[in-house]
Amino acid sequence: MASFLFDRLIGPGLRLLDPETAHGLTLKALAAGLAPRATEPDDPLLATRVWGRAFSNPVGLSAGFDKDAEVMAPMLALGFGFVEVGSITPRPQGGNPKPRIFRLPDDAAVINRLGFNSGGLEAAAERLKAYRAGSSKGQVQGQTQGLIGINLGKNRDSADAADDYARGAAALAPLADYLVVNVSSPNTPGLRALQGRGELEDLLGRVTAALPSPAPPLLLKIAPDLTEEDKQDIAAVCLAAGVAGIIATNTTIERPDSLRGTARGEGGGLSGKPLFVPSTAVLSDLYRLTEGRLPLIGVGGIASGADAYRKIRAGASLVQLYTALIYQGPALVTRIKRELARLLRDDGFESLAAAVGADHRYSG
Ligand SMILES: Cc1cc2nc3c(=O)[nH]c(=O)nc-3n(C[C@H](O)[C@H](O)[C@H](O)COP(=O)(O)O)c2cc1C
Repeated sequence: MASFLFDRLIGPGLRLLDPETAHGLTLKALAAGLAPRATEPDDPLLATRVWGRAFSNPVGLSAGFDKDAEVMAPMLALGFGFVEVGSITPRPQGGNPKPRIFRLPDDAAVINRLGFNSGGLEAAAERLKAYRAGSSKGQVQGQTQGLIGINLGKNRDSADAADDYARGAAALAPLADYLVVNVSSPNTPGLRALQGRGELEDLLGRVTAALPSPAPPLLLKIAPDLTEEDKQDIAAVCLAAGVAGIIATNTTIERPDSLRGTARGEGGGLSGKPLFVPSTAVLSDLYRLTEGRLPLIGVGGIASGADAYRKIRAGASLVQLYTALIYQGPALVTRIKRELARLLRDDGFESLAAAVGADHRYSG
């Protein structure tokens, strides 16, 4: 019923509002417990183990939706297998001037230049602690299950980027099922330069050194706008530095000629359908370059079970999405899971893990 209400009334209503206002209202509604809940249990075929953690399905909410860790429990209740919060910066900061999120409905896309608006580390840590204790907003009392990734950013005015990531990692590691060093948002000056070989070695070395023991797996989130050499360097550095996985990809600064939306000229990162092909190509390249040795999370333009399946076959052990949720509403999560299970079964896979990277094996 809640899902019906959302699809017919709330979703279309929200899409009449400015995107950031709509997002703020959505977060309030979710925190107030007004969200629909997935009712069907996950198909056992979708269960998977990555980094020693059991995921009941591989479909996650990607970073940027729940930047301040406010709605983890309700988003897990929608049916996501895991939720990644953030990006969280050490100190609170407001981000770029508004407007800074633009819908391109004809392209099923969004452009954002939020610039890491964040309530900061301490506020997020309090909410994450409440979640771990089973007492956060919207949480069924005692519910402490559901995997939470924590995505780290840096403050815009910070001179020492590595120090920001190291502080975030040290403080939030005990609360995370995995941590993400996000060096790929296009809206913080100089950030993506941290993906270069020397910078990345230094950064990952310092973050790793700051981690407590035991530490959760450390992941790197990369941009889609990389040269072949960049990708080779990233793969080599991640393998050498003991990075546990790579998230491919963040939004793109490219503007494909196909874009029709009037907002296409806005600065920022483009997400959604036009990102699907380039981000899947980067994912596939990283799988090849790391020889399948690192679990990858595929993200960028997923809007159906078939899209999720393509990312998995290209090398993703897990997938994430954000933009399609804006256009299709929460029922999308259940639709994707059903379709993905059917596609796996139709192709004769006995587990999700068996399909990971299948395109590489069968096409040489
Ligand atoms: C409004 C908005 C805000 C985002 N904020 C973040 C962020 O803070 N950190 C991050 O790593 N990615 C952020 N992203 C990128 C998404 O996590 C994701 O990588 C990208 O949107 C591609 O997936 P999609 O096409 O399914 O949206 C943001 C995306 C959008 C649309």
